[in-house]
Amino acid sequence: MLSIVNKTMLANIKHIVSRHQQCWPTGPLRYVVSDTATNSVTESAMNCWQLNAYSKTLNDTTLSLNINCHKPIIQKPTEMLVRVMSSSVNPIDLAMSSGYGRSLLDVLQMTTDYGVDAITYDRLPLILGRDFCGQVVECGHQVVQYKVGDMVWGALPPFWRSGTLSQFIVADQSHLCLKPSNLSVIDSSAIPYVGLTAWAALHTIGGLNQLNARNKRVLILGGSGGVGSFAIQLLKTWGAHVTTTCAADAIDFVVSNTGADECVDYNSNDLIGYLGTFDLVLNAASIGQHRDLKPEFGVKYLRKWKSAKYVTLSTPLLNNTDQFGLIIGSGLSAFTAIKQTMESCIDGHSVRWAYFWPNPCALKTITKLVEKNHIKAIIENKISFSDIPLAFNRLARGHARGKTVIEIE
Ligand SMILES: NC(=O)c1ccc[n+]([C@@H]2O[C@H](COP(=O)([O-])OP(=O)(O)OC[C@H]3O[C@@H](n4cnc5c(N)ncnc54)[C@H](OP(=O)(O)O)[C@@H]3O)[C@@H](O)[C@H]2O)c1
Repeated sequence: MLSIVNKTMLANIKHIVSRHQQCWPTGPLRYVVSDTATNSVTESAMNCWQLNAYSKTLNDTTLSLNINCHKPIIQKPTEMLVRVMSSSVNPIDLAMSSGYGRSLLDVLQMTTDYGVDAITYDRLPLILGRDFCGQVVECGHQVVQYKVGDMVWGALPPFWRSGTLSQFIVADQSHLCLKPSNLSVIDSSAIPYVGLTAWAALHTIGGLNQLNARNKRVLILGGSGGVGSFAIQLLKTWGAHVTTTCAADAIDFVVSNTGADECVDYNSNDLIGYLGTFDLVLNAASIGQHRDLKPEFGVKYLRKWKSAKYVTLSTPLLNNTDQFGLIIGSGLSAFTAIKQTMESCIDGHSVRWAYFWPNPCALKTITKLVEKNHIKAIIENKISFSDIPLAFNRLARGHARGKTVIEIE
């Protein structure tokens, strides 16, 4: 084991151990449940909302405010401690609260955090939340682009050791960049997670960019959602022609906020005749069993023999690994991916799965687009940190018309 530990890792481990000893005299690296008997908040303590048990219904027991949680500590030289001033909620937070994806996300976290004991490891209590905007408080010794006091924004992946519904987070420098100068702290939390997901789907997986997207015809399924509304705005800055689907009551909202060229009610009967064919179809609609969101639906709108792509954000991978375990679940997912790819080849199409992934270069590009007012934050609710259960209730009701953001400070 020691033979694969290099010098940098050894230095990091020493750093972690010394910091660990200051903050956690005993026990493994994880958050400490509040000491309600003393209720004392020290300099090493912070407030955070934590999930205490996986459950389909969130209540005071499963989701609670811990006013005496230990501040996280920097574990690697590329990490930074950030005072979180705003956050948001995304559908993945609600899904994770009922245990969605835990088989794979737990393993992914263990492989990124080499200090964690894999046998006794338990992510609970878990802090949810992906987006953040806040101020840098401390930097690891390999962080050169940022300094204490910088205002940054970003998003943490679901397999990161902790989430952002918390007064402090430790983030890697690849998770963030300087926040846009023209956006308020609270509004900034509406963009990073959905923005980077849309970027991964359209650019990294879909192959579109500002040079080749001009005059391409793109269909976005779910234009009223967080990812969909960002994707439309990004495509419009790249010069693409964008058609989108949404509920009838959301059409005005979508057209006025995103600049979509055409917006169609997803319940209308003449959808097929009306839409025509596209170079790329992105499924950014909510997870569900809609007939029209299965790959066959997206694929039939693709132009034949033009390398057109169907990119979907709703993939079976996490469900499969939860249901059948890591090995069989991953194998089943690989089989489905191969089957979909082979079927789509018949007409010269491809079917692709996309996932949120941290991408600091993309985040910097998004920052510039926001600063040029090409992309705006679309917000429905601003909720204070003490009212986070209201944010989860709003998320659970669905049919959102803009993001729900959380004011922490
Ligand atoms: N793979 C990844 O890494 C990743 C990352 C982020 C998000 N996602 C997934 O991507 C989806 C979108 O995320 P989001 O944050 O944008 O969610 P969101 O804000 O809840 O938006 C989802 C939108 O889909 C719309 N919708 C529902 N059924 C539809 C249909 N049949 N046709 C067209 N639109 C429909 C909803 O509109 P109505 O409410 O009016 O029906 C809603 O506006 C979610 O399923 C999410 O879990 C995946």
